[in-house]
Amino acid sequence: MNVILEFFSAFVVIVVFCWWYAFLKQYKVSKFFKNIPGPPGIPLLGNALDFKSKTKGVLNAFLKYAGNYGGIVKIQIGPFRKLLLISDYKFLEFVLSSTKIINKSQNYKNMLPWLGTGLLTSEGIKWKKHRRIITPTFHFKILEQFINSFDAAGDVMVEKLKKHLGCLSVDIYPFVTLCALDIICETAMGTTINAQRNEESEYVQSVKEMGRIIIERALVPHKNNEFLFRFTKDYQIQKKALNILHEYTNNVINKRREELLKEYSSKQRENSVDMGIKKKMAFLDLLLQATVDDRPLTNEEIREEVDTFMFEGHDTTASGISFALYSLANNPEAQEKAYEEQVALFGKEKNPTVTYGDLQEMKYLELVIKEALRLYPSVPFYARETNQEVKFGGTKIPKGVNITIFAYGIHRDPKYFPDPEKFDPSRFETIDGKLPYAYIPFSAGPRNCIGQKFAMLELKSTISKVIRNFKLAPASPHHSLKLVAETVLKSDNGVRLALMERK
Ligand code: HEM
Repeated sequence: MNVILEFFSAFVVIVVFCWWYAFLKQYKVSKFFKNIPGPPGIPLLGNALDFKSKTKGVLNAFLKYAGNYGGIVKIQIGPFRKLLLISDYKFLEFVLSSTKIINKSQNYKNMLPWLGTGLLTSEGIKWKKHRRIITPTFHFKILEQFINSFDAAGDVMVEKLKKHLGCLSVDIYPFVTLCALDIICETAMGTTINAQRNEESEYVQSVKEMGRIIIERALVPHKNNEFLFRFTKDYQIQKKALNILHEYTNNVINKRREELLKEYSSKQRENSVDMGIKKKMAFLDLLLQATVDDRPLTNEEIREEVDTFMFEGHDTTASGISFALYSLANNPEAQEKAYEEQVALFGKEKNPTVTYGDLQEMKYLELVIKEALRLYPSVPFYARETNQEVKFGGTKIPKGVNITIFAYGIHRDPKYFPDPEKFDPSRFETIDGKLPYAYIPFSAGPRNCIGQKFAMLELKSTISKVIRNFKLAPASPHHSLKLVAETVLKSDNGVRLALMERK
């Protein structure tokens, strides 16, 4: 009996101690949040119930908070987790342009098992050094070589979509995702996984599983806990998926390293390495030749960066392409203008050879893509965490504050985008560039999306190919999107449209 009592007392002391420690750690943060307006929550859970049914509630709840409480809102999730949801222009400018608030929030920790500390998740000096060496890999001369990869993957997608010609309701999202996966695999690693023709491949399945597990862990409290996660089925699924993903990338790195060494020794390298490239290079090849602190990157460092490209560079573009096609299907005037631009460039040729220069000429399509990314930003919100005290105006923001940047919110603010629900590409003819922190699908400032030029080229290449080959129409029966914020913006009931023959 005594033993049980002692055990119970020790347990209570440990719980109280942990609670007290967490409380103290949060004291300054809690004090800061006291004066911030926000929705009233219930004890212990805070506002967590507003995000019911997994992802489905988050976007609507965030939008409602911004409407009711303004551009700087306090949200509480559970007893300790608080976040600052921002869609206020001045505050966004302050955060995004800051060189002090560049660390990512705790929300990104579930990506670490797959991505390690690649560019998206790394911090401090490692992030700075790697950002500096990776930036030149997005030089236009490198991007120019990827046009063929966009084109070839787009051709396969169009062939697959042709089987649904005349169909009044096709969910295009799965087609586009596999196409984007083929593109990123070829451009990041220089290999072909043929995701579009071999959907059941272990690699493709593992990418899907990891995307699902990352978001599931962010939303299901016991899976978010490192210790408890180990007892779930998803832990085993993740272990298997990580083995497959890491082994694949490691094998490709080793093979390419060997090939480069051979090329180097046989003097072929002189013709292919410099920026005046003759031979096609993947991002991986450039990373293999990069140096940091006068030493080459280790295999692990390279794997982290390549995996980060694989993760960040396919779901985002798939979301962007799908919602832009949906917008065109539902806005026949915009589609007609975009198609006329294609006819002006290539006549009625459905599969012309498209150059980098041609993609630059697709000015109207660029407006369409910008407007689609305004209404449907692939990453609807993203978060930073202060790692030191910073001052905004007269207010001190302590260390440890989660700042969630609500891009989806400011994109729909009528102050910056009149009649915000309307799809109107022409609005970017006049406002483009003038309000850099009101339009932030690629984030902004020092930690913005490094892949945005690549993304814009890929989107132009694939969308233009689809509209040259098909006339898009609204799905029948009528389809309304059910937007959900997963690792990227998706629609829970698919992205449906009708595919008609383009005569
Ligand atoms: C429509 C397509 C895309 C959109 C909307 C998009 C959006 C974003 C956003 C909002 C961020 C900031 C995320 C954050 O702060 O957590 C980001 C970061 C990043 N993106 Fe993209 N992205 C796209 C495509 C790509 C592509 C194609 C690549 C690579 C080939 C890429 C690579 C990255 C990387 C490496 C980062 C981290 C940069 C850093 O922290 O220094 N993205 N992207």
